[in-house]
Amino acid sequence: MKKVYIETYGCQMNVADTEIIMGLLRKEGFERTDDASSADLMLVNTCAIRDNAEQRVIGRLGELKRHKNGQNLLGVVGCMAQRLGASLLDRCPHVDLIAGPDGYRSLGQLILRAGEGDRVADTEFKAWEHYEDVTPMRSGGASAFVTVQRGCDHKCTFCIVPMTRGPERSRRLDDVINEIGGLAGRGVSEVTLLGQTVNSYHDGKSDFADLLRAAGAVPGIRRVRFTSPHPNDFTDRVIEAMAETPEVCEHVHLPAQSGSSRVLKRMLRRYNKETFVECVRRLRDAVGGIALTTDIIVGFPGETEADFLETMSLVREVEFDDAFTFRYSVRDGTPAQKLGDVVSKEVSGERLSRLIEEVRSIARVKNAAMVGEAREVLVEKVARRGELLQSRTRNNKVVLLEGTEEDIGGYQTVRITGTTGSTLIGIPARSVRNELAVVT
Ligand code: 5AD
Repeated sequence: MKKVYIETYGCQMNVADTEIIMGLLRKEGFERTDDASSADLMLVNTCAIRDNAEQRVIGRLGELKRHKNGQNLLGVVGCMAQRLGASLLDRCPHVDLIAGPDGYRSLGQLILRAGEGDRVADTEFKAWEHYEDVTPMRSGGASAFVTVQRGCDHKCTFCIVPMTRGPERSRRLDDVINEIGGLAGRGVSEVTLLGQTVNSYHDGKSDFADLLRAAGAVPGIRRVRFTSPHPNDFTDRVIEAMAETPEVCEHVHLPAQSGSSRVLKRMLRRYNKETFVECVRRLRDAVGGIALTTDIIVGFPGETEADFLETMSLVREVEFDDAFTFRYSVRDGTPAQKLGDVVSKEVSGERLSRLIEEVRSIARVKNAAMVGEAREVLVEKVARRGELLQSRTRNNKVVLLEGTEEDIGGYQTVRITGTTGSTLIGIPARSVRNELAVVT
């Protein structure tokens, strides 16, 4: 067997794409290795969402170059590969091959040609590509990502994704449900449905509401999650399906981007502060105990202090459970690049600090309020530090608890005994293996 080393950066869809890439490369006779120096092929699956994501990859490519020995190959795949295309070959002479998110089927050919000394790229969009016949090579465990939609048709002015992942397309509901059925048969009990605006899913016959209900009905599936939705695509049908499907977890990651209606308009987000808050209200009315997290950009071109204060007021009004906060990063070719009105690094840095402080203090209060409660958790893995296990509640809070590796992949009811601010501490209240998930 030939050996492939692959590093993955960016979003969950990249993680899922790496599993597809591994599924394809297995057919080409590759097995995965964690040791770059002994690999026949080194791949970096990249992100292009912000400049720092790309800088990190450029740095890593420089390091991986050390392992090149005249026999092995170095490839760049994913969104940065798509964005820069062949120009990345000019910029990085040690890179042999390039493939964008729709180009993974060509990898076998690209590897062959690169092995003969050609430097090659496939960055063509294929609006039909779902890798439907490819069996993703998953790492195992109780949780799995399932891509249900690829690409994006939105035109948010800051965003590079439409230029890196091409037009939006949804898989057929039957195909998705068959895949989830197969996963459940192998012990998966939690699925996360992935799409760029996942709740706009539509396969021509069925919408996202149908998909949620069908995913929840698969025997053995106990938790259904999805990411990331767009506020405008939360139709009444979708919210009803969430409320009526017990398997759908009480957590939505709902990117707000800004709390200023003026900025939201310039971002072409197609909602304003009021309609965003209205969406939050509808979700909370329908789904008791739902946790909400968000993405926020500060320093978008032309953002004034007054605009930023609107974002702070939105954060306080909604009381998000957590937020990913970003400093605006200009992306080549996006409409926002032409807006001018650059916000200085000092100003956006200072706004970012204030925002993070606000988000943290709200999260702390919310997490502290959970102390004393009993919650069902799915044990995921050994926590990064110490001997504790990392588990997750239905509303997506991380709970650290004592246990053994045998507990991983099982469900337990834990009592929350404390919080470090961002994470919860729990003690097992009662251990319940997931009976359905262990039947194969
Ligand atoms: N600059 C900063 N953050 C961005 N995001 C997307 N594009 C940019 C950009 N140009 C953020 C958004 C999105 C998340 C995945 O990344 O908040 O929801």
